[in-house]
Order: sequence, then C-alpha cells, then structure tokens
Amino acid sequence: MFLERIAIIGALDAEIEILLKAMQETKKSTIGRTVFFQGKLSGKNVVVFKCGVGKVNAAIGSNTAILKFDVSKIIFTGIAGAIDKNLNILDLVISTDLVQHDFDLTGFGCPLGLIDGEKSIKFKADETLVKIAYDSAIKILGKNKVTLGTIATGDQFVANKKQVDFIGDTFGAKATEMEGAAVAQVALNYNLPFVVLRAMSDKADGSAHMDYNEFKPLAAEHSAKIVMSMLETL
Ligand code: ADE
Repeated sequence: MFLERIAIIGALDAEIEILLKAMQETKKSTIGRTVFFQGKLSGKNVVVFKCGVGKVNAAIGSNTAILKFDVSKIIFTGIAGAIDKNLNILDLVISTDLVQHDFDLTGFGCPLGLIDGEKSIKFKADETLVKIAYDSAIKILGKNKVTLGTIATGDQFVANKKQVDFIGDTFGAKATEMEGAAVAQVALNYNLPFVVLRAMSDKADGSAHMDYNEFKPLAAEHSAKIVMSMLETL
C-alpha cells in the first residue's frame, strides 16, 4: 500500500513548535544540518522540520525531505510581512502562487523574477491544498482574516515602505517572506503539490523589526493550528 507522508516545513523554531508538541510516534533524524521529525499528526503520516531562513536553506530542506522521506505533499507554515495595505497583523495569506522577487535576469531582457528555464515568474500552488487551507483557516480565524494571493519570496527582510510598494506593484503580491517560492520551485521539480500558509507578523515597514518580535509567536501559532486542522481533511 502507498504510504502517504506530508512534509510540513517552517523556517523557525516558533513556526513548528506546536506541531512537534502535538506529534505522536516521533522519530528524529539528522541529515546534513537539518533535523527531521517523522511521526503522526492529526492521524496523518508527516515529516516536520525547520529549514532555517532564506531560499537556499528552504531548498536544501525540502529537496532532502522529498528524496529521503517519500513525501507526497508539502505544506509550508509560518509568518510573513504584509504587502497588501488591506492586511492587518495576524491575518493569514494562503498562496495561490509564489514568486522570487529578488531573482534578477533583467539585464538579459527577462522580467524580474523569471528563473532561467521557467515559463512564468510565478509558481502555482496546488488548488486542492489551497481550498483545504482556506476552509480550515476561515473556521479558525474567520473569513475577514483570511485571504488568498501571491506571496513574494526573497533573501531579504523587508522593512521599508518603498520596497513594500515595489513588491506590491511589480508582482501583485500580498505578503513577503524568505522561503516559500524556493520550496515551491523544489516541489514543482518533482511534480509535488504544495501550499504556503503565512500569518502576518508585521507590515514590512519601518516598524517591521519591532512588530516581528512582538507578533512572531502568535502569528506562527495561528498558521500551525490551521495546518493541524488541514491534516484532518487531507
Ligand atoms: N517574515 C516576516 N516578516 C518579514 C518581512 N518583513 N520580510 C521578509 N520576511 C518576513
């Protein structure tokens, strides 16, 4: 029988803490510098891990998980900076698609974000996972705190209004973070379905560092709780 295993990835300890606490039959293994926890969560087989911050760490972790743990679906859970002015701190953005906002071959005439060999600047998330994430999120947070949209990823903590406007205007993104589109690129390389959930810890503006520290724990917890609810449906 095919044993389905869902990878659940966070970049930070805070983003996976409550998942690890809720996990059963946990088995720990270390590959390279990444520590993977296999086990059961909401009755499903999962592998949960912290990939670390940034696109390279995200790619290392997700590629390793796919090859070593027979992963069939990928869910990224965590926090982000809001780009869309209508969003408030602690609102949740579920990825319809993701773009690497700092991938720049514009000197060769490519649009910003286009990775050589790709047809589009945006990596599309799996529609079924997006729907399940949305249904779970509105049950937990309520409809007016949940939105679907583009997430922009880059190796940059965005903390100024000019960059917020640039990312919003260029990519139509609702939120910015540092791992999602790298995980998306790796998932699509193996034709695996994925979705990224991000609760807003800050507005990526001049107060972003302060807000980030204040709201990181609660935002991370919200996103992780929604993932646990998703697992009941998957
Ligand atoms: N993650 C949380 N807030 C962020 C921000 N402002 N920029 C990039 N990644 C983030």
